[in-house]
Amino acid sequence: MAKPATKVREFEWRDQDFEFLANLLYEKTGIVLNEKKKEMMYGRLVRRLRALDIKSFANYCDYLRGSSGNVELGFTLNAITTNTTNFFRENHHFDYLRDKILPPVRKQIDQNPEHHFRIWSAGCSSGQEPYSIAMVMHKVLGKKAQNSKILATDLDSNVLDKGKRGQYEAKLCRETIPRLFLASHTKKVKTAKGDEIVISDDIKKLISFKQLNLLHDWPMTGTFDAIFCRNVMIYFDKATQKKLVMRYAEYLKPGGILYVGHSESLLSVSDIFKSQGKTIYRKIS
Ligand SMILES: C[S@@+](CC[C@H](N)C(=O)[O-])C[C@H]1O[C@@H](n2cnc3c(N)ncnc32)[C@H](O)[C@@H]1O
Repeated sequence: MAKPATKVREFEWRDQDFEFLANLLYEKTGIVLNEKKKEMMYGRLVRRLRALDIKSFANYCDYLRGSSGNVELGFTLNAITTNTTNFFRENHHFDYLRDKILPPVRKQIDQNPEHHFRIWSAGCSSGQEPYSIAMVMHKVLGKKAQNSKILATDLDSNVLDKGKRGQYEAKLCRETIPRLFLASHTKKVKTAKGDEIVISDDIKKLISFKQLNLLHDWPMTGTFDAIFCRNVMIYFDKATQKKLVMRYAEYLKPGGILYVGHSESLLSVSDIFKSQGKTIYRKIS
């Protein structure tokens, strides 16, 4: 029987290099990279080897173990994270925000103009999620949103820079942002890459982008009215997911809402959260 053809690669990619990198990334980020992700990892890290003029993955692993390792680790993490996102992704989450969460907040602000409303977009990627939240918040609360804030965090510094800039390909925005919001909160600009849109300052100022590894300490004080952690936990194992959900519960007000991604669900925490419909959970007070 013919032997399966060995793939010809630009760089040698041994099992032990994959294992070293997968263990390192799991330890630092919680992201689980099993054998099936081997090709993906090669493809994403190969650019780092070229940029550093490193000749093999064995040498790249040594580089990470060496004195430049800490700096390089940031690049490794940026390369490995999956940042797929979109404006108004899983639209029913934003309907729930508009119809169920924000109207009582508006009443509270009427009674007490100092009332603070806080949302956390945990694993915000390049900003489309927090900008979608901010547009809905602006629509329902109007000027009353001035004391309200969205914290947007991610591990990956590249996507955070993109989020802070708030500038995106125009075609993509036209396909995903409701027309009313496009008209009121964005401006078209011409760039060398083609038409883009910029998010307006009244929306930008509602959001603070910060780098945060969800596995590390969380420096925030106080609690949140809602936390969006969508399509992030899917990359973690069950134990890490459970720990994270327990920590979110501590950071939510009684009655606060936790949003998760469409393929994620909160198992075995039914004594803390009650389902409010598809992938929306309320903390039981
Ligand atoms: C697929 S994106 C989800 C973006 C957005 N929440 C959405 O649903 O459209 C997952 C994000 O989680 C971030 N992430 C992965 N592990 C993380 C960790 N340990 N701490 C913080 N962010 C992390 C990635 O950098 C990535 O931007």
